[in-house]
Amino acid sequence: INCIGILTSGGDAPGMNAAIRAVTRAGIAAGLKVKGIYRGYEGLINNEIQDFTTENVSNIIQRGGTILKTARSKEFLTPEGRKKAYDNMVEQGIDALIIIGGNGSLEGARIFAEEFDVPCIGLPGTIDNDLSGTDSTIGYDTTLNTIVQCVDKIRDTATSHERIFFIEVMGRDAGFLAQNSAIASGAEAAIIPEDSSNADQLEQFISRGIRKSKSSSMVIVSESPKCGAMYYADRVKKEYPEFDVRVSILGHLQRGGSPSAYDRILASRLGVGAITALREGQRNVMIGIKNDEVVYVPFCNAIKSDKPVKKELINVLGILSI
Ligand code: F6P
Repeated sequence: INCIGILTSGGDAPGMNAAIRAVTRAGIAAGLKVKGIYRGYEGLINNEIQDFTTENVSNIIQRGGTILKTARSKEFLTPEGRKKAYDNMVEQGIDALIIIGGNGSLEGARIFAEEFDVPCIGLPGTIDNDLSGTDSTIGYDTTLNTIVQCVDKIRDTATSHERIFFIEVMGRDAGFLAQNSAIASGAEAAIIPEDSSNADQLEQFISRGIRKSKSSSMVIVSESPKCGAMYYADRVKKEYPEFDVRVSILGHLQRGGSPSAYDRILASRLGVGAITALREGQRNVMIGIKNDEVVYVPFCNAIKSDKPVKKELINVLGILSI
C-alpha cells in the first residue's frame, strides 16, 4: 500500500478532526501518500479528492465538526455509485480507505470492501456510541459532557419554577447518551430504547411520588419518532394536571463544539492504530478501544446493533434517584 484515502461519513462528531489529523500524520510518518476525500462517499463518487500534507491538518485537533465535510450518500447505496467510487479510487491511485463514521458508514465500507477487494479500515466516529467491540466512539464523551452542561442549566429553571422537565437527547436507537447523562446530571429517570419497560419506568417515576419529596425533577428521554419527550410529557400532563411540565429537545447543539480531551486522545490513538493495522495487513476492521487497549473489530461485528447498556447503569440511576 502506497496511498490511502481518508473520509468522514454520516453525522459529524466532535473528534473527527483529531482523527483526520492522526491518520494523516501517522500515514505520512509511515511513508504513505495521503489523500483527503471530501463529503464522505459522495466525494469519492464525485472525485472531490485532495492531496494532504501535515499542514492540511494543522490547528484542527481542537475543532468540532469535520474539515473534510460529511454526507449520507444515497448514491453509494447503489452498485452503480460504488462502481464510480471504485473507478475514482483507481484513477487517484488510492490503495486503501480509512473511513471515520458510524454504523451506516461502516456498513458501506464492509460492502465496498467485499465488492472490490479494497482494504478498508474504519474508525468509530459517532456521538451515539452504538458500535460494538469498542468501549467508546469518537464524539460520545464530548456530547455526553455537552448534554450534562445543558441539563445543569435547565435544572436551575426546573428548581426555581418547581417543574418536571422531559429532556430529549440524541442517540438514534441507542440509550447510552440518555442513561449516562441522567446519571451524571443527577436526573430522576432515563427512558431508553434498550429498556423495554419504558412505560413502567414512567409509572415508577410518578408513583414514587416524586413531588412529595422533591419540588422539581428531570427525566432524560432518548429520541424516538413515536415516543420522545413530547409523548411522555403529554401523558404526564393528562394524567397529573397538577404538575407543571415542560419539554426541552436539545437537538443538534449536542453534535457541535470542541472535542473533550478524552475524545482527542481516543481519536489520536485510533488514528495511529488505523495505520498500524494497515501495515500489519489488516483489512476490513474497525479500530476500537477495549479496556484501554486498541483492538481490531471485524466490520460485521462492529455494526451489530447489540451493544448493551449495562444493567448496572440502570440500577445505579434507580438507586440514586430516590
Ligand atoms: O448518528 C448521529 C445522530 O446525531 C443521531 O443521534 C441522530 O438521530 C441523527 O444523527 C440526526 O441526524 P441528522 O443530523 O441528519 O438530523
